[in-house]
Amino acid sequence: MQEILQELEDRRAAARLGGGQRRIDAQHSKGKLIARERLELLFDPGSFEEWDMFMEHRCTDFGMADQKIPGDGVVTGFGTINGRLVFAFSQDFTVFGGSLSKAHAEKICKIMDQAVKVGAPVIGLNDSGGARIQEGVESLAGYADVFVRNVHASGVIPQISMIMGPCAGGAVYSPAMTDFIFMVEDTSYMFVTGPDVVKTVTHEEVTQEELGGAITHTSKSGVADLAFKNDVEAILQLRRFMDFLPLNNREEPPLRETSDSPYRVEMSLDTLIPDNPNKPYDMKELIEKILDEGDFFEIQPNYAKNILIGLGRMEGQTVGIVANQPMVLAGCLDIDSSRKAARFVRFCDCFNIPIVTLVDVPGFLPGTKQEYGGIIKHGAKLLYAFTEATVPKVTLITRKAYGGAYDVMSSKHIGGDVNYAWPTAEIAVMGPKGAVEIIFRSDLGDDQKIEERTEEYRKKFANPFVAGTRGYIDEVIQPHNTRRRICRALAMLRTKDVENPWKKHSNIPL
Ligand code: HXC
Repeated sequence: MQEILQELEDRRAAARLGGGQRRIDAQHSKGKLIARERLELLFDPGSFEEWDMFMEHRCTDFGMADQKIPGDGVVTGFGTINGRLVFAFSQDFTVFGGSLSKAHAEKICKIMDQAVKVGAPVIGLNDSGGARIQEGVESLAGYADVFVRNVHASGVIPQISMIMGPCAGGAVYSPAMTDFIFMVEDTSYMFVTGPDVVKTVTHEEVTQEELGGAITHTSKSGVADLAFKNDVEAILQLRRFMDFLPLNNREEPPLRETSDSPYRVEMSLDTLIPDNPNKPYDMKELIEKILDEGDFFEIQPNYAKNILIGLGRMEGQTVGIVANQPMVLAGCLDIDSSRKAARFVRFCDCFNIPIVTLVDVPGFLPGTKQEYGGIIKHGAKLLYAFTEATVPKVTLITRKAYGGAYDVMSSKHIGGDVNYAWPTAEIAVMGPKGAVEIIFRSDLGDDQKIEERTEEYRKKFANPFVAGTRGYIDEVIQPHNTRRRICRALAMLRTKDVENPWKKHSNIPL
């Protein structure tokens, strides 16, 4: 009996050694953790239950019959993060470069299926040389099996990808279909075709890092949501992030106890808006002042900085924040910011996360670059996303809310549940100067007249009260009471129950 038990321990020890000490050392020398170390850090101590530790590939070509490593390059299983169930797979670069064989894919698919059955998130820690070259089409079939599950699990359970090494070719499409992609700086990259192919086809010379590193994808392409300095920081932040999310689409987001009173008054907000309407201010200050303990988990902070998105809590409940940032492009909506915010709004709506929208938007960014790039379709994404979202939606206009952008930014007209404005709000088709130059064109040249007309227009529209008389704004509120007013609105909306008309699926302008 003892021998049998010992055999299990020996087999486990062999599996834990993955591709062997030499390759483990090589991984460490690159500043990377190995697959199991990452999982240990991710899950609560002792909570990880591994599955399929002894699974092997079935390839016999290219001498592969003699090269079998138990687990076949991916560690899969479930555990808890701050006490809540989460499934994960962690690719083991020390085993055939973490490349994906059919058996490797089957392991991933198994935990994805189980996660959907029980309603728990899936985290993928990606570190892989891509398709297992020796397996050919078997490997491609394995990828497709994962892709299908990514699609079917989308909107059912949160799916998070952490890129911690190579992720190239078609392999990028599994992370691309998950809800969030996080990356580790310097050690991870994602691209459809690498620098060598790029050079052959387009004659561009570009490094791996420039083409698909963490900085590129979090600031240029917007493919990734956040970049972290190293494996440890990445995984600890991922744990923090998971605390905001519900486990599945039928669950409310978790409530966390807070000592931050919902009645907290912030007098400094009364002077946040500068006297000069063209002067910017930092919308992040407002966000941090209204959230519980000022804790804002910002997403995509370096991409399309004219809009801010992220998660926080109010009265302990997770909320999604969407806010124009007057510090960048005066807070205009453009292609990138519309896409960024639209996807986030849809994520929140999938997972029952109420949305708080903070508005200071002078309109859509003009120009050929925007028009040729399809701002019409991209701007429509945000309009569409806010409109179809049935989660509680609370909107606050702090200053400008001009033109179409006013409608788009979760206005009353597209289903805002509670719409507040500060007394400094200006809700109009456009700014006073632009408006007067159009409707009083014959007065142009007469500076005094134009000045008078501008003042007249400003008095009439550059305030929240016209919208207030129509009921488009539920209440004009004192800035210092913003936290209390939004908390109360969210509390009132907790039992909101709205359904859109039945359909197979919607047809968002892609
Ligand atoms: C099998 C692989 C492998 C792969 C790496 N290895 N990639 N084995 N299939 N795809 C093995 C290596 O042979 C090596 O084995 C070990 O993993 C580590 O690889 P190194 O090259 O020594 O590591 P490094 O120098 O860090 O380079 C990593 C790498 C490189 C950049 C990922 O290995 C590489 O270019 N690999 C091939 C990538 C690729 O072309 N993949 C297919 C892409 S197409 P030993 O025994 O020496 O330790 C694709 C399509 C997906 O993925 C389609 C989905 C629909």
